[in-house]
Amino acid sequence: MKAICVTPGRELEVRDIPTPNEPAPGHVLIDMDASAINHGDKTFLRMPTAAGNALALGRHDVWGASGAGRVVAVGSGVPVEYTGRQVAVYRSLDRSPASVGLWCEQAHVPYTTCLILPDHVRARDYCGSLVNVMTAYAFLEEIANAGHKGVIVTAGNSATGYALASLARSRNVPAIFLVRTAAARDAMCRLGVEHVIVTTEGFTDTLARLSTELGTTAVFDGVGGDLITGIAPSLPMNSTIYFYGFLGGAAPVSIPSVLFMMKNLSMRRFSNFESRTVKEPAKLAAALKTLEGVIDDPMFMTRTGKEFHYDQIELAMAYGSPDGAKAVLVK
Ligand SMILES: NC(=O)c1ccc[n+]([C@@H]2O[C@H](COP(=O)([O-])OP(=O)(O)OC[C@H]3O[C@@H](n4cnc5c(N)ncnc54)[C@H](OP(=O)(O)O)[C@@H]3O)[C@@H](O)[C@H]2O)c1
Repeated sequence: MKAICVTPGRELEVRDIPTPNEPAPGHVLIDMDASAINHGDKTFLRMPTAAGNALALGRHDVWGASGAGRVVAVGSGVPVEYTGRQVAVYRSLDRSPASVGLWCEQAHVPYTTCLILPDHVRARDYCGSLVNVMTAYAFLEEIANAGHKGVIVTAGNSATGYALASLARSRNVPAIFLVRTAAARDAMCRLGVEHVIVTTEGFTDTLARLSTELGTTAVFDGVGGDLITGIAPSLPMNSTIYFYGFLGGAAPVSIPSVLFMMKNLSMRRFSNFESRTVKEPAKLAAALKTLEGVIDDPMFMTRTGKEFHYDQIELAMAYGSPDGAKAVLVK
């Protein structure tokens, strides 16, 4: 079968590799329909230790963290409900040396990396979703345990931002979303999101008032750089900034040290696969079950920009759409 693999020089190339046929215990074989290219697929290719220790690749060095397809065979010990179902997959939920995938025609992965999709949705519409949905879910769990009652989302108009909006609403967690354009604000408002602020001149006054009123002390930061520098003075007391993404690039965050004292401010990373939700098998199973029940919310769908075939991988990796929609690999 065709697969997109990583070379020792950390380039991607299309190879012919053996098709997995008999699933190992606890594993499923998935006929892959599509795989969206997320930021992590680019970041970890360039910088394997971007989230700490580099993650193992599995057999044949196949690349790709997200995808969707249909289960065509199950190994021993796999719950019967996975048989024949369409699934969204996020490879980093459970690593196995027997894994093959995801950017290949047939993936072989632990069933615990899969979320069963209802029959009335199109698997392709969720081919980049599970990583982002799980990130938002695990984050809300983590901040609840840390005692936070509300959240500020810096990359409001992103897949992780949308996922957080849906999950925060269902948990009644107040959330403020920062977006860069009025169009992004209007789109979120049309979907019923209540507190969306456009980051234009003077927005920090609105943020300071609203965040104190709502007690949004956890910052879910996918942007970094100038935006965090700009909002830090407006955060409520006892805020924690959790860095999970770097859409703002390499621009440094610059915060006067007195703010740490004045606001008891703290800063730390958030990585979904280092979260308790993903690392503890019972919590992961519970998360997947809960998400299965709500995954058909359109806010979890992958925004597809353009579809590419495997042999167009270079073009697909270079693709950037003006509205943040993603390149999707299809067979
Ligand atoms: N740590 C983890 O566990 C984890 C998990 C998943 C994702 N991530 C990371 O989270 C970040 C977001 O990923 P995603 O898939 O949710 O993003 P995405 O869906 O691709 O969203 C990108 C959107 O964010 C908005 N944005 C805001 N500020 C931006 C900036 N300075 N530069 C570019 N875009 C900006 C843009 O919308 P507008 O143009 O409308 O502003 C853009 O369309 C990435 O860095 C990703 O690597 C981390």
